[in-house]
Amino acid sequence: MRVIVDKDYQTLSRRAALFLAGEIIRKPDTVLGLATGSTPVGTYQQLVKLHQERMADFSEVTTFNLDEYYGVSPDNQCSYAWFMDHHLFGHVNVQRNNIHIPNGLTQDVELECRNYEDKIQQAGGIEVQLLGIGRNGHIGFNEPSSEFAAHTSLVELDQGTIEANSRFFDSRDQVPRQAISMGIKSIMKARRILLLANGSEKAEAIYNTLCGPITPQCPASVLQLHPDVTIMVDKEAGKDLPREC
Ligand code: PGA
Repeated sequence: MRVIVDKDYQTLSRRAALFLAGEIIRKPDTVLGLATGSTPVGTYQQLVKLHQERMADFSEVTTFNLDEYYGVSPDNQCSYAWFMDHHLFGHVNVQRNNIHIPNGLTQDVELECRNYEDKIQQAGGIEVQLLGIGRNGHIGFNEPSSEFAAHTSLVELDQGTIEANSRFFDSRDQVPRQAISMGIKSIMKARRILLLANGSEKAEAIYNTLCGPITPQCPASVLQLHPDVTIMVDKEAGKDLPREC
């Protein structure tokens, strides 16, 4: 795994956006796996800027988001569909039918999950998967104890995640308890992975991801087994990392 420690969130976001823009230049019809949450917001802002400067053309790009809250409509401002429109898709020239986000309102979850995996395969698989990381080491909504072999499925959010994500809702009670999430296996199939983290509250998760045992207790630790992972952190998130681990 390559690890880059940047001085601050701004620098990290610019670096991550350039990484993704470089991928789009290399392969204009690339397939990107995208993430939501506070972490990638700066990256998306920088990507929009690169698009405006004509350095990132999304016209042939296909995207797959990691997850969506179950039971939440895409019109709801707390949905990840809304988040992606607001932070990225509404500002770049990506084609609507090339955007994929699990349907949180599906009547048939199993079919939705199967179809989602099939669509990823039909698109040729994910070239670069962007990831944030939870304080508990989750990637997507794959919480501690998730099976490494899991594909896209309906998952239960852990209490810490409900707590952490309550800042996006009016109250903790409004945070959905379930989500449709790509599984660890779906993530591991991506050809390249770019994981971002900022802030000292992520330091322990980053330490465990890089230096801890490979265990479902820290889902991101599975990335030690992936051949092409880049981890970009700011100084705070990287503060516990030794020179070697
Ligand atoms: P955050 O979430 O970027 O809002 O901290 C990351 C995650 O939970 O994966």
